[in-house]
Amino acid sequence: MQWTKKDILDIEQLSPDEIELIFETAFGLKEISERPIKKVPTLRGQTIVLFFMEPSTRTRVSFDIAAKRLSADSLAIAAASSSIVKGETLLDTASNLQAMKPDIIVMRHSSAGAPHLLARTLDVSIINAGDGMHAHPTQALLDMMTVKEKKGGLSGLNVAIIGDISHSRVARSNIVGFTKMGASVRVAGPPTMIPPGIEHLGAQVAPSVDEALTDADVVIMLRIQKERMRRFLFPTEREYARQYGLNDQRLGRIRPDALIMHPGPLNRGVEISPEVADGPFSVILDQVTNGVALRMALFYLLAGGTRDADAD
Ligand code: CP
Repeated sequence: MQWTKKDILDIEQLSPDEIELIFETAFGLKEISERPIKKVPTLRGQTIVLFFMEPSTRTRVSFDIAAKRLSADSLAIAAASSSIVKGETLLDTASNLQAMKPDIIVMRHSSAGAPHLLARTLDVSIINAGDGMHAHPTQALLDMMTVKEKKGGLSGLNVAIIGDISHSRVARSNIVGFTKMGASVRVAGPPTMIPPGIEHLGAQVAPSVDEALTDADVVIMLRIQKERMRRFLFPTEREYARQYGLNDQRLGRIRPDALIMHPGPLNRGVEISPEVADGPFSVILDQVTNGVALRMALFYLLAGGTRDADAD
């Protein structure tokens, strides 16, 4: 199939065929990162702006590495060092960036819908690298790519997403993505962190963490996002770890070939014990490795996907 989308804003906008095309492209590009010279000229002459208004390690660095592996010129802008601190509006900042003729703007913002606003207003392609509590489509795509790589497919799998569902854009994008690709998704966590109406996205709410874990093929653990909380939603981290954390005792409930995932950053000893995070079920660093290939694929497809990625 031919890629036609101008932007990557959320998983809702993508069809299952488009998601499969993204996976196929990412698997094809992944081996470039294994070469002695990890660079192809595919996007030479293209300019990619990384416009990050919230902190990030994995997402910003992997977009930057992905751009460089394809020979695009990339530059990062952070809120604290931009003229936004002088009172410039988001749209004025973005219009000025567009006036310098970049080909793609990758954007992370604390407000839900900020990338959608830019995509409607500007001609340049926009990739949403996380908007508030709304969506993190590239995280969901790399999570699904990792499961497809390890399991061969997504249809029919039981996926458990556990923790602070309320504040998690990763949970929302993964619920939409995994259900769209034929998996069943259960969520569990403190009742104060399960948003009303989450079932409308396609997830079932499990009565307890143990029930969510039972026969799970994939477990996605989530960090407590204290930075987005206006009041305390759990008693203590120790109590949270005891009631909702993933530890060795709970692993007996999952399937013997299950995958343990986490989008990062981890709070070791809170939502996940160090033994589980570093243990044999964990594919957390595979997710990070696949994030580079997945983001290379998105740049490649948005740029037209017509040039020879194998040339060196
Ligand atoms: N998974 C994720 O979005 O991590 P960062 O906040 O470090 O980018």
